[in-house]
Amino acid sequence: MQIEVPIPKALERKYPEPVVLVVSVSKDGKPNAMAVGWYCIVSYEPFMFAVCIDSEAYTYQLIQETGDFVVAFPSEKQAKETLFLGTHHGHKLDKIERCKLKLSPASKIKSPLVADAVANFECVKEMIYQPGNCPIIIGKVVAAHINSDTKLQRLYTVAKNYKLSGVVPAR
Ligand SMILES: Cc1cc2nc3c(=O)[nH]c(=O)nc-3n(C[C@H](O)[C@H](O)[C@H](O)COP(=O)(O)O)c2cc1C
Repeated sequence: MQIEVPIPKALERKYPEPVVLVVSVSKDGKPNAMAVGWYCIVSYEPFMFAVCIDSEAYTYQLIQETGDFVVAFPSEKQAKETLFLGTHHGHKLDKIERCKLKLSPASKIKSPLVADAVANFECVKEMIYQPGNCPIIIGKVVAAHINSDTKLQRLYTVAKNYKLSGVVPAR
C-alpha cells in the first residue's frame, strides 16, 4: 500500500546515499574541499560526473575560477573530516589545514586528490546547468585513481541530519 506524504518525508527513504568530496583549488594554489551527496555519473563516453553545488559554496566560486575539480570517494574512516568539510565554508577558513586532510597531486589538473580516499576522479568543467535552485556542474573525467587498499569501504550518509557511516557490502 502506498501512503501519500509530503515530498521531504518520502525523501527520508533515500538513504543510504553515497557522499563524495569535491576538491577544488584557488588561483593562487590553495585547495578547498566540500561534501556532496547530490552527484551522479551522467555519461560513460566520455566519462562525466554531475555534482550539484550551491552557488553560495566557496567550491562553486573556485570551480568557476579555475575550471577543474576532483570527485573523491571518502572512506568510512574519513567520516569526521567529511562532516567538517560539509559543515564549514572555505571562504575564510583553511578547512584542509584544520581537518588535516592529506592531499596529493593530480596528474592532469590543478585540483589535488584526497590521498586516503577509496578513489579519485580528476574532472574538467564542461558546463553548468541550473534547472532549479541548485547549479549542476558537469565535469569530464580526465584521469582516475584507486586506493591500493582494496578492503577500504566507501562512506555513506545513512540517515538524515548528516549521519555518516560505512555500509555492510553484499557477500
Ligand atoms: C553529507 C553531506 C552532503 C552534502 N551534500 C551537498 C550537496 O549535494 N550540495 C551542496 O551544495 N552542499 C552539500 N553539502 C553541504 C556543503 O558540503 C557545505 O555547504 C560546505 O560547507 C560547502 O563548503 P565550501 O563553502 O567550502 O565550498 C553537504 C554536506 C554534507 C555533510
